[in-house]
Amino acid sequence: MGEILGLGMTHYPPLVGVDENMAHILKTVLKDPGLPERYRDPANWPEPLRREFGDDGGKKSAAVHRAELVRHFRHARKLLDDFRPDVVVIWGDDQHENFTEDVIPPFCVLAYDAIEARHRPRDTAAPNTWNETAETVFRYAGHRAAGKFLAARLIEQGVDVAYAYTPLHHAGLAHAFLNTLLFLDYDRAGFPYPVLPFQVNCYGRRVIAQRGYRSSLANPIPEADLDPPSPSPKRCMEMGAAVARAVRESPWRTALIASSSWSHAFLVDKHYQLYPDIPADRRLYEALARGDWDAWRQTPLAAIEESGQHEMLNWFALAGAMEELGRKPDECEFVETWTFNSNKCFAVFRP
Ligand SMILES: [Fe+2]
Repeated sequence: MGEILGLGMTHYPPLVGVDENMAHILKTVLKDPGLPERYRDPANWPEPLRREFGDDGGKKSAAVHRAELVRHFRHARKLLDDFRPDVVVIWGDDQHENFTEDVIPPFCVLAYDAIEARHRPRDTAAPNTWNETAETVFRYAGHRAAGKFLAARLIEQGVDVAYAYTPLHHAGLAHAFLNTLLFLDYDRAGFPYPVLPFQVNCYGRRVIAQRGYRSSLANPIPEADLDPPSPSPKRCMEMGAAVARAVRESPWRTALIASSSWSHAFLVDKHYQLYPDIPADRRLYEALARGDWDAWRQTPLAAIEESGQHEMLNWFALAGAMEELGRKPDECEFVETWTFNSNKCFAVFRP
């Protein structure tokens, strides 16, 4: 029977860059012509945002944020190394990278044999924390057999998942998957475990309309031009539970990883995209910490969308899997930030 380690983490792109650029999403919003004038002045910001942004554009706070995230990634890597997985399943979003106008699957198992990935050009346009470029190549083993097994068992359980043996539009890996692996190898020792990326259509109504990123405040996209929705939080939990049942019966020791930050400021229009929805994240975090999976299941997609928590659908998959295994987190920690676009959360569910 396959042992299972559950981990929750983030693939936060600004961690690829350097500290002076970590607040760049906020700085982009400050230049949006649609931002009400009063918010261009930090004097009119909520106090925690003003304090964290400081008088250096957030540079000193960025070092603190980075240190906290890197500490969690080194810890998660140690747990993975101790566990020695045969396969690492990563639930991640695709932000108009591998899947675009010709097809958007709700879920897709990427059952690749081998992976050759590169940073997104936009992540290396500014200095990169490792001095890597868009030409730097990262090689990982895939796990086609585990991918076929998982897709087959999901379909048999009534979760009609798509699968692929090769990338479609994005050679290598979309950044949700690649950044997760790069952060789990922050010290660049190599990542020896076969990887099974599992795409979730987190951006739903905004995946094509906004290419998985922000909309302009000056010219918001009309409701009628948005796309069909993501799978619901409840459905993501059902899929996660089906994955847990499949993996439990598999011959492989499996790490199940949910990778995403929580509320994203650039998706929170009620805050003019300046800072994330911290109370909404706190509510889900408290439910996570006590293993209150019903509170998660009852969260409507509309609430997720309003709070910019789209990418948390990856975490709903993990929540469904852990509920199915009768687990609550052995460790979890919420990393709050007002300045650096998104709150982060880390969680460990020991085998
Ligand atoms: Fe993402």
